[in-house]
Amino acid sequence: MTMSLIEQTEQAGVVTLTLNRPEALNALNTDLIAELGSVLAALEAHAGLRGVVLTGAGEKAFVAGADIAEMRDKTPEQARYFASQALTVLKRLETLPVPTVALVNGYALGGGCELALACDWAIATDNAFFAQPEVGLGIIPGFGGTQRLPRRVGPAMALDLITTGRRIDANEALRIGLVNRVIALDERDATIAELTKQFSRNGPNAMRAAKQAVHDGQDQDLDSALALETSLFALGFAGEEQREGMSAFLEKRKAAF
Ligand code: CAA
Repeated sequence: MTMSLIEQTEQAGVVTLTLNRPEALNALNTDLIAELGSVLAALEAHAGLRGVVLTGAGEKAFVAGADIAEMRDKTPEQARYFASQALTVLKRLETLPVPTVALVNGYALGGGCELALACDWAIATDNAFFAQPEVGLGIIPGFGGTQRLPRRVGPAMALDLITTGRRIDANEALRIGLVNRVIALDERDATIAELTKQFSRNGPNAMRAAKQAVHDGQDQDLDSALALETSLFALGFAGEEQREGMSAFLEKRKAAF
């Protein structure tokens, strides 16, 4: 496998992954999914990692979906394998220990929307469009859309999108909580720079613990989840990071994490 479908840059521990398969608007085929899996496996082992931004090359598409040409002739068994491979990679993305942000530039359709949903949160450029158009192709979402979309926007809105297949623009995505912010397309680099600045000045272990608390708490009842928070809060006082952060505040200087 040639490692060429994903560009990777790093600044102060924040890695930007740019999906780059322009001839198919970055559609997710087996090779791209496998390469994403390999890239994420390497990032899991990156001790200095502080954040990940995922975006699409060019100005037109984040990801135009799973690759329809590749899917058309699949048997049910092959379709199951294709979806399970992708789900494993998206789970790997979701459970990266650092904050992950989808920077959605242009089309995020089907598997593209599902990829964005596997990130912790999302920013859309003002030319972005989102949809789960699978029913128009005679299938249902298969990369987690029927589960992560309702958890993000609620079941009624998710079923509105999934059963109509309609496209929504960046502002509607913002309104329903699918994305957190909308930026102008030409603010993409500045936005990545700003996120890099923010992630790199925060306590790296604190960011990891915060992500763990939110993610692991989601599937628990409130009391168990609050107990988890307390444990992780207390654990934060076990290392150097908390002492440095609080000393820096009291000494009116920047923390050196
Ligand atoms: N799979 C394979 N190829 C794709 C693709 C996809 N999902 N999306 C775009 N492409 C290809 C087109 O076939 C075209 O290739 P050729 O130049 O060889 O013809 C090239 O990318 C450029 O696309 P268009 O000419 O269609 O560009 P456009 O500007 O006219 O339209 C678009 C852009 C609206 C995104 C349109 O390409 C489109 O509707 N794409 C398909 C979107 C879609 O249905 N995605 C869901 C896929 S199913 C899925 O994702 C299932 C799941 O949950 C796992």
